Amino acid sequence: MRVGRQSFMFRSPQLKPAVYLRVNIISLMDYSHLLCEIDNHVAVVTINRPDKLNALNIEVIDQLSHCFQELEDNNSVRCIILTGAGEKAFVAGADISEFSEFSVPQGRALSAQGNEKLFNKVEDLNTPVIAAVNGFALGGGLELAMGCHIRVASDNARLGLPEVSLGVIPGYGGTQRLPQLVGKGRALEMITSAQMINAEQAASWGLVNHVVPQEELIEKCQSIASKIIRNSPTAIAYAIQAVNTGFEEGRDGFEEEIHLFGEAFGTKDFKEGTMAFMEKRKANFKGS
Ligand code: COA
Repeated sequence: MRVGRQSFMFRSPQLKPAVYLRVNIISLMDYSHLLCEIDNHVAVVTINRPDKLNALNIEVIDQLSHCFQELEDNNSVRCIILTGAGEKAFVAGADISEFSEFSVPQGRALSAQGNEKLFNKVEDLNTPVIAAVNGFALGGGLELAMGCHIRVASDNARLGLPEVSLGVIPGYGGTQRLPQLVGKGRALEMITSAQMINAEQAASWGLVNHVVPQEELIEKCQSIASKIIRNSPTAIAYAIQAVNTGFEEGRDGFEEEIHLFGEAFGTKDFKEGTMAFMEKRKANFKGS
């Protein structure tokens, strides 16, 4: 790990024509398994391990965790798009070769640490994350996509939680987030059968919001991002927090909504947003 200001030349393999950008960020580590590109308030993060279908080993999880934190701390980033390198996979799951010899305590720690470092963290980010599901999203890959705030799939995407075929269960939030998104019956069919569903079926079940041809996937996500970045980052953060609270055991989402609705009135973004409406101009939100 190294600390310091670094300048990166990043390229997203899915942007056509290829766009290279020089990005200055305070980086805590080398992202050997990630590509990151920031342009006009939108970061595109690509998990770059295509020879292993972008499977999530501990290094990838650590790097994603750090990268998301850096992007969250960067005030110029207002939306993140997460995708996988290549045309075959978003993420084909947790790296099976890493945990095949694990004991019970190691298995428990793997799940707990992964959730804390990455899966719950993504869901709780103030910055909206769009999963651009460009192929297989299996096991931890689907769980990662479900931790994101919005999912868009390419027409070749195949989604599933095949863990029971390996003798284990989904351990990165899949047993909780899949029923939230598709309902208990459909979730249990996917989990117990270990079968994949295609992109169209995922859309009809509400697991992804849109399906587009693969070559249009990043463009579609950029189009959603372009609408998000016009709005108040502070209000967006409050909205994410209020929605997530409703899914937390023992917490009252309606109470949280009342609280955060009130808090919003104390922000500069609220003054700017309402003033801009009265003055018939576009709001210039600063995220404060
Ligand atoms: N963990 C570790 N390695 C993985 C992986 C995973 N979850 N998914 C794929 N890979 C690796 C393969 O081992 C292979 O590596 P190799 O070339 O060194 O042998 C490489 O990625 C390509 O995968 P391959 O299986 O040859 O591709 P395919 O097109 O024949 O099959 C899948 C694609 C997705 C159907 C298949 O790779 C698969 O079933 N992967 C595991 C999915 C899974 O169970 N995920 C949940 C894990 S909890």
